[in-house]
Formats: sequence, structure tokens, C-alpha cells
Amino acid sequence: MSQLRTLSATEVPSERLLLRKAHDADREGFIELYTDPEVQAYIGGPQPRSDVEQRFDAAIGTANATSRPGNYVIADNTTNRLIGTLMLACRPTDHPGHVTEDGEALELGYVLRRSAWGAGFAFEAATVALRAAADELPDQPVLVVTQTANKRSLKLAARLGFCPISTFEEFGAEQTLCTAPLSMFRI
Ligand SMILES: CC(C)(COP(=O)(O)OP(=O)(O)OC[C@H]1O[C@@H](n2cnc3c(N)ncnc32)[C@H](O)[C@@H]1OP(=O)(O)O)[C@@H](O)C(=O)NCCC(=O)NCCS
Repeated sequence: MSQLRTLSATEVPSERLLLRKAHDADREGFIELYTDPEVQAYIGGPQPRSDVEQRFDAAIGTANATSRPGNYVIADNTTNRLIGTLMLACRPTDHPGHVTEDGEALELGYVLRRSAWGAGFAFEAATVALRAAADELPDQPVLVVTQTANKRSLKLAARLGFCPISTFEEFGAEQTLCTAPLSMFRI
């Protein structure tokens, strides 16, 4: 079990968004994220709707989808509607791609509904999460791991200030490992 801490806040606001924990009303939004072929193109592929529905209804329960620390729904702060998810949590040490001796490091991940791409929402959500984490946690490297073919994700990582440092094979595709010091996000 990782000892690495992550953000403790259950809500993090920004200008247009609110990072918050999931509600039952987020069910349709989650189902769309897991079943949309474009959204899933570089993160495992779309899953059959019936499987996702079953997982949310029977096994997970929508409200538990973000119960782990560092896992958030990205919501529009005027409508409270789910537009995506963000994760800032320990990268499992048995996955390739490490920058610390013990293999423990915070990894940033982001997924937006297709209709929310191209408006800077992922950049805004990641920035506010990293700033809050930099305020709360000691300096440490943060990772973004993304398929090298996932140009939008690489562009976002670069815009946030992450530098690509290596590539490796995982899930049958080349992955790019990017890193940035958490202290870079302190304001
Ligand atoms: C990766 C992903 C989150 C990037 O979304 P995105 O909307 O392109 O990212 P950003 O929030 O940085 O938005 C950037 C775009 O918004 C535009 N934009 C508009 N208003 C903006 C604003 N106020 N601030 C910043 N950018 C703004 C930028 O010009 C840029 O446009 P472009 O796409 O034409 O270059 C999205 O493609 C996605 O969900 N992909 C599927 C999941 C995935 O692969 N995740 C990666 C796992 S590691």
C-alpha cells in the first residue's frame, strides 16, 4: 500500500470549473466517458454500454467512482454537470515508467467528454489541482504518462510545463513519460 499522499480536498474550485466528488447524477456522464470511441482511443478502447452500466449500478455505484483520494469529477461550475474526470494519485509501482528510487510518484490523468475538448477545461482543471497539491504537499516529481500517439494529451502536458523524458512500451503501444516538479505549480 502506497504511503504517498495526494490532495486531501474534496472540492477544488477554479474560474469555470469545480473539481468535486461524484454524485449519482453523474452516471450518464461516466457512461459516456467509458463508451465514447474518440475519448477512449488511447486509453484502452470503448467498453460496451451494458458492461459499464452494470459496473456502475451493481459493483461501483456512481457515487463511489471518485471515492479514492485525488480522484475528481470535473464539473461545469454553473450547471454542476460532469464534463470529465481528473486524477492525481500514486502511479502503481508495478507499472513501467518511474522517476524515483522506490518507484512512488504522483501521476496526473485527465479525461474530458468529447463535447468539452478545445475549450481549455483540462488545462484549467489540471492547473488548479496541481496548485492545490503544491500548496499542501512537499516538492516531488509529478508524472504524466500518455500514449505517444495521443497528441492532444501530449500538447496539454507540454502546455502545463511537463517535459518528456523517456518512452516505453505498455498496453501494446509506445508511451511517453513526462515529468514536472510539483513546486513549479506553487503560486
Ligand atoms: C487529453 C484531453 C483532456 C485534452 O483536451 P483539450 O480540450 O484538448 O485540452 P485543453 O484543456 O488543454 O484545451 C486546449 C484547447 O482549448 C483551446 N482553448 C480555448 N479556450 C481556452 C482557454 N480559456 N484556456 C486554454 N485553452 C483554451 C486551446 O486553444 C486548445 O485548442 P486546440 O485543441 O485547438 O489546440 C482530451 O483530448 C481527452 O479527454 N482525451 C481523451 C482522454 C485521454 O486520452 N486522456 C489522456 C490520458 S493521460
